[in-house]
Amino acid sequence: MSPAERGSAAFEAIDLRRSYRLDGVSVDALRGVSLRIEHGDFVAIVGPSGSGKSTLMHLLGCLDRPTSGTLLVDGVDVSTLSETKLAELRNRTIGFVFQSFHLMGRTTALDNVALPLVYRGVSRAARRERARAALAAVGLEHRLDHRPSQMSGGEQQRVAIARALVGEPKVVLADEPTGNLDTRNGAEVMDLLARLNAGGGVAVVLVTHDAEVAARADRRIRVRDGLVEPEDGR
Ligand SMILES: Nc1ncnc2c1ncn2[C@@H]1O[C@H](COP(=O)(O)OP(=O)(O)O)[C@@H](O)[C@H]1O
Ligand SMILES: [Mg+2]
Repeated sequence: MSPAERGSAAFEAIDLRRSYRLDGVSVDALRGVSLRIEHGDFVAIVGPSGSGKSTLMHLLGCLDRPTSGTLLVDGVDVSTLSETKLAELRNRTIGFVFQSFHLMGRTTALDNVALPLVYRGVSRAARRERARAALAAVGLEHRLDHRPSQMSGGEQQRVAIARALVGEPKVVLADEPTGNLDTRNGAEVMDLLARLNAGGGVAVVLVTHDAEVAARADRRIRVRDGLVEPEDGR
């Protein structure tokens, strides 16, 4: 089947490039990346430090725009969208999880998780109800009123996953989600992401340095020197 016959993918990248200019020096972080990630995929992006993994994740997540090339997110060419429309697409389609959790420190788990719904105009009562359900789904119904400093790293990352999921995204993008966790908490976070992928059909795209973590994904995309290497069996 041609890509068009398969319908829209979660992501389709064609010859994506991203250069950074620093003090007149240009760094080519991505040098022509093409890939396709289907709805419901579970993908690990792997590669050496500095190879362009985070740059690729920022482009996929529409947090940044490519220098050139085409990116379709859920079938939409993002270069055609205004900043407002892009933010809307991001808010509805993508949930983010970061290595260092990025929770608001003075805010309870419930309010951290409810926050993305503010931008969708969901009522306060509905926000709290959905945030409670998302925290229950990650096993934290007993931590609703805790602040990040009152939780372990593993719990904080589960709060971040609940925040990523509360808007019912089609994709979760996670840059080194287990990077700040010990082995046991890392494994729990991976169990959770695998369960969400299998049960809810949400695509999961994660960056990792850890071969054991990468082995749990269905596909591995290898990035090296700003390029994607051909995948085995594809
Ligand atoms: N904001 C930036 N400004 C300048 N150079 C950057 C920026 N972000 C990344 N780079 C450079 O782009 C290359 C790829 O970086 P990155 O995508 O962070 O790699 P990885 O996540 O695989 O470690 C590196 O050479 C890095 O120094
Ligand atoms: Mg990185």
